[in-house]
Amino acid sequence: MSIIPIITEPNSILRKKAEEVASDLIPDVKQLITDMIETVNNAKGIGIAAPQVGKSLRIVIINTEDEPMILINPVIVSHSWRKVIDEEGCLSVPGKFGLIKRPVNVKVETLDENGKFIKFKAKGLFARVIQHELDHLDGILFIDKVINYTNDVQL
Ligand code: NI
Repeated sequence: MSIIPIITEPNSILRKKAEEVASDLIPDVKQLITDMIETVNNAKGIGIAAPQVGKSLRIVIINTEDEPMILINPVIVSHSWRKVIDEEGCLSVPGKFGLIKRPVNVKVETLDENGKFIKFKAKGLFARVIQHELDHLDGILFIDKVINYTNDVQL
C-alpha cells in the first residue's frame, strides 16, 4: 500500500474525461483502489477520484460512510428536482471552499470493486460527494460551479 501524491489544479489531467475500466481489467486496478483509499484516508478526505492521483480512469472512492465505497464506471441515472446549496472543498483545490447547488438525492448505477453491477439511492452528504467525485471523471471541478467562495482566498 502506498499514499499517492494528490494532483492539484491547474493540471490537464484534472480536466480530461476519464476512461471507463473494462470489467475484465478490474483485477488490474485493485492496487490503485487500495492506494486511493489509503491516500484519501491520509488526507482526511471524504472522497477522491482516480484523476486526482494521476490515473485518468472512471474510479472513485466515497468516504462518507462507515466503510470506503468503491465505484467503477459510475453513472447518475436520475436525480431529485429539489436542489440544496452547501459548502464544498476539494483535495485538488487546496485552501478554497465554496457554495455549490446540487440535487439532494441521486440514483447511481455502477460496478463495485468486484466488477458486480449495483444500483443504489443516495441523499444528503453522501449524494453530494458522489456528484462532486463524478464531476472529476468528466474534468469538472467544484470551482466551475461555485456560487460564492466561503473563504477569503483571492481568485
Ligand atoms: Ni474534488
